[in-house]
Amino acid sequence: MTGASDGVGLEIVRLLADAGAAVIMPVRNRAKGEAAIERIRQAVSDARIVLLNLDLARLDSVDTLTASLREDTAIDICVLNAGVVLLGDRRRHVTADGFELHFQTNFLGHAALIRGILPLLERSQARVVVQTSIAAARARMAWDDLDGARRYRPYRAYASSKLALGLYGLELARRAGGVTVNLSHPGVVPNTAIAAPVRALLPHDLVDWAVRRVGNAPSTAAQTAFDAATSAAGPPVMFAPSGPFGLWGPAVSRTPFRRLLDADEAGRVWSETDRLLS
Ligand SMILES: NC(=O)c1ccc[n+]([C@@H]2O[C@H](COP(=O)([O-])OP(=O)(O)OC[C@H]3O[C@@H](n4cnc5c(N)ncnc54)[C@H](OP(=O)(O)O)[C@@H]3O)[C@@H](O)[C@H]2O)c1
Repeated sequence: MTGASDGVGLEIVRLLADAGAAVIMPVRNRAKGEAAIERIRQAVSDARIVLLNLDLARLDSVDTLTASLREDTAIDICVLNAGVVLLGDRRRHVTADGFELHFQTNFLGHAALIRGILPLLERSQARVVVQTSIAAARARMAWDDLDGARRYRPYRAYASSKLALGLYGLELARRAGGVTVNLSHPGVVPNTAIAAPVRALLPHDLVDWAVRRVGNAPSTAAQTAFDAATSAAGPPVMFAPSGPFGLWGPAVSRTPFRRLLDADEAGRVWSETDRLLS
């Protein structure tokens, strides 16, 4: 379960722990991770959680994590929830591996993680949950400039990273033996750290209104990924808020965004990922 130290992810862990799951929680900031576990245990006192290290913006960190998992580690559910959004910051941030930060954190690091644990996922006939975003619905893959090296726009970088992750997840479902994949998106969650840059761009009154009227609280937003993790297996579906435009409300299942269902694009994301990670 990535991105469990804060926001929606912390609430997903709370739901999973409450349902009896033992959770592996890889985080980039152990102090934050420990504080998150304390908060979860206030609600679920016997929560079984193991804290590990993972920085998705460093491929060596992903490799260290996957190498540390034993061959017989049973992974029944893998939730790809971590993400960054740097709206309002026009600078293009580059990771130590040389990739744009949204591209690596939200997409490529998760793809590397899946590659590293694929035998474990296949052995456990696992369910993978891909946390995408409403931003992916209208995003496009810029094949000649995948991580915005030539033309960088923060929103476009975020949106296309979430599209790439969704396409990768659905291609995984086509290729991996016995692994099922569902998508989820949390709608708009104005109270999380990831939403702070969006809040900073908008007038205060609008933000207050949005928090009261439009967005989901993290605890409600977490339900989409939880349902995606626990619903009966079937063709991949997307769990999303039921309210207008999927922005808020209780979780329902729906057909994934049309752009996520493009099998040619998904195959291309898969091959390109193999190339980038080889
Ligand atoms: N909030 C929204 O309105 C919204 C809308 C659509 C989709 N989403 C998606 O929902 C997911 C959760 O977002 P949120 O709103 O809960 O954001 P959040 O509160 O900022 O949580 C993001 C999580 O990702 C982790 N993370 C960030 N960079 C990482 C890295 N390099 N390596 C490992 N972990 C890293 C963070 O760890 P730290 O604690 O160390 O920062 C944190 O646990 C994201 O995938 C996001 O794209 C959110």
